[in-house]
Amino acid sequence: MKINVLITGAHGQLGRSLQKMKPPHWAVTALGSKQLDITDAQAVQEQVRALRPALIINAAAYNAVDRAEQERERAFAVNAQGPLNLARAANEAGARLVHVSSDYVFDGHSRQPYDEQAKPNPLNAYGESKLQGEKWLLREQPHAWVLRTAWVFSAEGQNFVAAMLKAAQQGRPLRVVDDQTGAPTFAGDLAQAIIALAGLAMAEPRSRAAAGGPAADGSRREGGLGPQRVPHPAGGVYHYSGSTALTRYEFARAIFQAANVVAADPAGTARAAGAVDPTGTAWAAGAVDPAGTGELQAAQPSTSSGDHPSGGHPGGESAARTQQRDYLDMLSPIPSSDYPSATVRPKYSVLSCSKMAALGIPPKPLAESLPGVVRALMASR
Ligand SMILES: NC(=O)c1ccc[n+]([C@@H]2O[C@H](COP(=O)([O-])OP(=O)(O)OC[C@H]3O[C@@H](n4cnc5c(N)ncnc54)[C@H](OP(=O)(O)O)[C@@H]3O)[C@@H](O)[C@H]2O)c1
Repeated sequence: MKINVLITGAHGQLGRSLQKMKPPHWAVTALGSKQLDITDAQAVQEQVRALRPALIINAAAYNAVDRAEQERERAFAVNAQGPLNLARAANEAGARLVHVSSDYVFDGHSRQPYDEQAKPNPLNAYGESKLQGEKWLLREQPHAWVLRTAWVFSAEGQNFVAAMLKAAQQGRPLRVVDDQTGAPTFAGDLAQAIIALAGLAMAEPRSRAAAGGPAADGSRREGGLGPQRVPHPAGGVYHYSGSTALTRYEFARAIFQAANVVAADPAGTARAAGAVDPTGTAWAAGAVDPAGTGELQAAQPSTSSGDHPSGGHPGGESAARTQQRDYLDMLSPIPSSDYPSATVRPKYSVLSCSKMAALGIPPKPLAESLPGVVRALMASR
């Protein structure tokens, strides 16, 4: 049986990814900001009354971190009042709600990944507005799911990967901060995680067991699983980001390394000609350490799946290395103090995703998604 699902913020990175990946039994209504402004309580109520969704996924947000300092009111309207409006309408219609929040609810003073119990203490207006949204939404609908994520990127929309490539292609030397650490999250992975979480939460225990759903320890078992062993994700806060933690500068290096690989093999013919590792793991295990720390090499190289844009690899490594210097030489690390910004950002905002992993929804390494995103962005220019 189909279930009605409403997606708000349909044209953003996450909104688009959700639409691409929706399971066949979801009848999705995806509305952009012009079709449904979540700050308009009445419009939200009317839309939800008319659609009567079983599930609402809020992918709408005000994400302009710097501008939020001047546009505080707007940031709070979208990031706090918006989720509250959705929660009230959802309650009235009997709909469940998935909302997305941010790593910027933390102050970054920790040096180990933040779990869901860690105390938020936002440093900027954007983070404050996202935290307020979480609180108001969960007060209204305690069984809603709030997923905090971080550093979202995709081949569409505005994000760090697109900004780095654009600057590099314009030939501008780049100074990138090397003292802010986070975990980039591919929008497709986030969409998949939300779909998996909602699927687990909304399925009947019996059908989850029959489907051999993930067990509490994250392993998958085929059938024969008692309903009592199947996790039913309670409402509340969850963390989901990529599994590769690195600084902005290291992220930029990883982007440019991938860009060099594409530049050396623009048509991706090396892969087509079978000249590369057929598992698609070559990028992760490549000769160059993009982060300069071994971090990406330490990440599990894994097979490109149909859900991930796959990365190409040059047939000739030396060509890639030559190209690579071209891009990487334009990049230099700076401390945040040298970056002119009125906004204070957390120095460390890595999220611990073990609660999601225990549901069988583990975080994914950057190496699985970044090469394909870089290739798609370069092809679109
Ligand atoms: N991007 C990141 O790096 C990042 C980091 C941490 C957490 N997150 C969170 O992850 C979620 C998804 O982010 P994303 O990267 O997909 O965001 P995005 O690409 O910026 O998309 C957000 C969408 O929300 C829409 N929107 C803005 N105001 C709205 C309103 N009043 N009513 C309805 N829609 C509205 C925007 O539409 P218009 O363009 O028409 O305004 C845009 O399409 C958000 O909750 C975000 O806060 C993102």
